[in-house]
Amino acid sequence: MKRRRFLESIVAGTGVAAFGCTDDHRTPASMPSGPRLLEGERLRELEAVANVAAGAREFSATLRAGAGEVALLPDVATRMSLYNGMYPGPLIELREGDRARLTLDNALSEDTTIHWHGLAVPEEQDGNPMDPVRPGERRTYDFTVPAGSAGTYWYHPHPHNRTAAQVASGLAGALIVRDDDDALSHVPEVTLLITAVRLAAGGAISPNDAIDWTVGRQRETLLVNGGRLPVHAVAPGATQRWRILNATSSRHFRLALEGHALTLVGTDGGLLGAPVGPLTEILVGPAQRVEVVVTASRTPNARFRLRALRYTADFLGLGSYADEDLLTMATTTDPVAPPLAVPTRLRPLADLGTPEAQQRVRFEEFGNLCTSTGATSAFFINGRPFDPSRIDLVTTVGRVETWDVVNATSMAHPFHIHGTQFQLVSTGSGAVVTPAPYLAWIDTVVVPAGRTVTIKTRQALPGRRMFHCHILEHEDNCMMAILDVRPS
Ligand code: C2O
Ligand code: CU
Ligand code: CU
Repeated sequence: MKRRRFLESIVAGTGVAAFGCTDDHRTPASMPSGPRLLEGERLRELEAVANVAAGAREFSATLRAGAGEVALLPDVATRMSLYNGMYPGPLIELREGDRARLTLDNALSEDTTIHWHGLAVPEEQDGNPMDPVRPGERRTYDFTVPAGSAGTYWYHPHPHNRTAAQVASGLAGALIVRDDDDALSHVPEVTLLITAVRLAAGGAISPNDAIDWTVGRQRETLLVNGGRLPVHAVAPGATQRWRILNATSSRHFRLALEGHALTLVGTDGGLLGAPVGPLTEILVGPAQRVEVVVTASRTPNARFRLRALRYTADFLGLGSYADEDLLTMATTTDPVAPPLAVPTRLRPLADLGTPEAQQRVRFEEFGNLCTSTGATSAFFINGRPFDPSRIDLVTTVGRVETWDVVNATSMAHPFHIHGTQFQLVSTGSGAVVTPAPYLAWIDTVVVPAGRTVTIKTRQALPGRRMFHCHILEHEDNCMMAILDVRPS
């Protein structure tokens, strides 16, 4: 049976044959239908957590994970899991070289961890699933913010088999690393953290069903900084730097701003060497971040939607047949602001150089083999389901490697490695290999269905590192493995 047919039959078998549509252009039948969220408020600024450290170059704060209530609906509060009672979690702002001490206070009724997604911190500070924090316990993550790491990151729970549910219930936040030497420090910035919810009747977060566990929790309503379709007011002509984070479990966005071009200046691991653009759209997969520079229209009192255009290569378009809106940029009636220039050089960014070794990672789909979630099928890495006690690949500190990541399944998977940023080399489809269009530091790469993505990577610290699909339902349901980084 052809792979696509195989997965279609699995979805059909879950009793949701109505979604098994192969026509990419059909109107959605599968968007979340639940209660209608409050919408159209002014874009909220993410609130930063206060630094309570006494010393210079130190940052210390506590993140309490616990139950809380959020006003998403007009009449009833939604019970969620929150960091410090906030949705999304508080913004953490660090500086390169800071000693960070971040205490997780687990007031949930289950194990959790905090993972500092994208930051190269030691294994034992990485919040990996083998290192759970029990209910009622506290755990201080203690690390030095790596040199050269200025950029946009996020933090989220990473407990064994429960990452998807905890993120879906509200646990995630943005983390920004700053550096004194920032080529765009003259450009005002805004952080846009995209999360998603799906509410059941009565306003509670709805649990994952079999489709979610199979293709990811795609059928959710998108929020920016915790608000539905917020309005971001800017002076006509103003130039801004937007840090955009995709903290959804499984959604691929082709981001586009009506009537505007975007200049891409940064990715997961911070600024590019040079700006890329103007672009009409940018693909941002699950867990990925981009930094873009936007110069608003000089027309006063005009509205432009920031949109998540449908990513057509996702599995059968489940839950995302349609283009969707994220927010509205509204120009004010203020005087026209002068545009700000983007420097042609942003920072030095060197290729990782000649690889000394090669590794291979292959994604395949299997029926009904990994049953902890009730999914009807699972995606495996190199033929095996995740086992926290097994080493899957081995490398040594400092060794530059190419990894060929082969996607032999019928849907795209965003591939993530802990412990380092890496570089995209090429994307291949059969004999056609397309080199990466520009050099960038990334920690997550979208591997389209049927394609092979080649990356160059190097681990700077010893220890066990997770690598996995960042569709959180896949990660929880087998699609994860361990890289053992040995001292050189
Ligand atoms: Cu966002 Cu294993 O991580
Ligand atoms: Cu990570
Ligand atoms: Cu996946």
